[in-house]
Amino acid sequence: MVIRFPEGMESMDRPRITIFDTTLRDGEQSPGCSMNVQEKLHLAQQLDRIGVDVIEAGFPIASDGDFEAVRSIAAALRRPIIAGLARACKGDVDRAWQALQGAAHPRIHVFLATSDIHLKYKLRITREQCLEQAREAVRHAKSLCADVEFSPEDATRTDVPFLCQAVEAVIAAGATTVNIPDTVGYSMPEEYGQLIRTLHEKVAGIDKVTVSTHCHNDLGLAVANSLAGVQQGARQVECTINGIGERAGNASLEEIVMAMRVRPDRYAYETGVASEHLYASSQMLAEITRVPVQPNKAITGRNAFAHEAGIHQDGMLKNPLTYEIMTPQSVGVPDSRLVLGKHSGRHALALRCEQLGHQFERRELDEVYRRFVVLADRIKKVQDSHLLELIQDVQKGDVSRNNVSKSDAASSESKKFPPAAVTLPFPRTAFAAAGANAGANANESHPAQISGSTGPAQPTCPAPTNWFGGGVATPLADHHSDQEDYLWGV
Ligand code: KIV
Ligand code: ZN
Repeated sequence: MVIRFPEGMESMDRPRITIFDTTLRDGEQSPGCSMNVQEKLHLAQQLDRIGVDVIEAGFPIASDGDFEAVRSIAAALRRPIIAGLARACKGDVDRAWQALQGAAHPRIHVFLATSDIHLKYKLRITREQCLEQAREAVRHAKSLCADVEFSPEDATRTDVPFLCQAVEAVIAAGATTVNIPDTVGYSMPEEYGQLIRTLHEKVAGIDKVTVSTHCHNDLGLAVANSLAGVQQGARQVECTINGIGERAGNASLEEIVMAMRVRPDRYAYETGVASEHLYASSQMLAEITRVPVQPNKAITGRNAFAHEAGIHQDGMLKNPLTYEIMTPQSVGVPDSRLVLGKHSGRHALALRCEQLGHQFERRELDEVYRRFVVLADRIKKVQDSHLLELIQDVQKGDVSRNNVSKSDAASSESKKFPPAAVTLPFPRTAFAAAGANAGANANESHPAQISGSTGPAQPTCPAPTNWFGGGVATPLADHHSDQEDYLWGV
């Protein structure tokens, strides 16, 4: 990896960001994402394996199942901190502490809303009562456990001077981490960053605690807000695998980790997460919850490293620096792949044909390509078998069929998730030979190749299949040969 640090900064100067994973608590609160104790334990072991620092294992007072999940994770994992959530009251704190008894590194996470909206309509208490309740709960938690986190829920809609007062009060009462939740995903990045900065400027004792971000994604800004918080002094980020969480979810762990990894020039921070296992973790969660990852999800979506457009495929064949900012291996995706669909060019088609054992002269390839475009337009799923049939027809000079039966078309259209088309494992070692323009860049390392970890990752789950994106259908009539070299990246 070519790490571009700000001038004068070395790797060891980079502040370490604590990754607090709340997939098992806030994540589990997303509709359809509930998990049983065994599933939670399984996922917690994966989170431990990838190097997450804190695992919020659940909300012990919420149910016997949650209690048992926190208890068994606390008993099983020795390295990470295990956190249990509690409302700011004695019963919750005691129950959390009971669940955390077996933990090597327990943390009690106490929360209480501080915004006037929540105080007035939900809690029906005054600001003074809120301060007293928060102080009391943190004091009690501290009497049980050295590591206490406090979250002023709905912090970003809280009157700022009152938020400063509340944060100061819980620090004085013994909190060691203060988390600033954007509970409803309302904040904008500069605003959230400014809030973290204000707390650092105005709150006595803040330099003795860790300031944390916890951002929801209602406006799609959870990751941006978290990173803005880090830039203004937050040193813990709360996040979830696949960004699951209440409503629109939380900041996605994989996006946070990779933003820092790919852009150390802007975010010169370090995490303990082994990014090569991100994809496997994402797949594991999707498999457990049966909630699929959206195809275009950054980092771990099945399309994150797929290239369908001819121009892109051509660039990729010449040098992946053209269209990839990180290697698939750096996040554990087995390889990037070229999807042969209706937007593909001759170059990619010719490569797949070669991989299937067929090389063509230009005129023959034109004919294969012409038929391929017709086929790709008619069915969603172009398999190797279709392509081989099509090749055979061209070789026999058979013009009678276009290689797709009605039943083929019907069956591929009826699939819930159309797996894609022909996928081309990308030959990364052959870039220099792949295109005339590879030239000087051919030996350059990929900007996000992680030094010392360039070997193939060992994902525990199979590679995702690609599928055709929506895209605009391109009728054959639109394929003018004089334009094709540009339009289709040949
Ligand atoms: O979003 C939120 O405010 C929370 C707190 C409990 C930390 O999840
Ligand atoms: Zn939350």
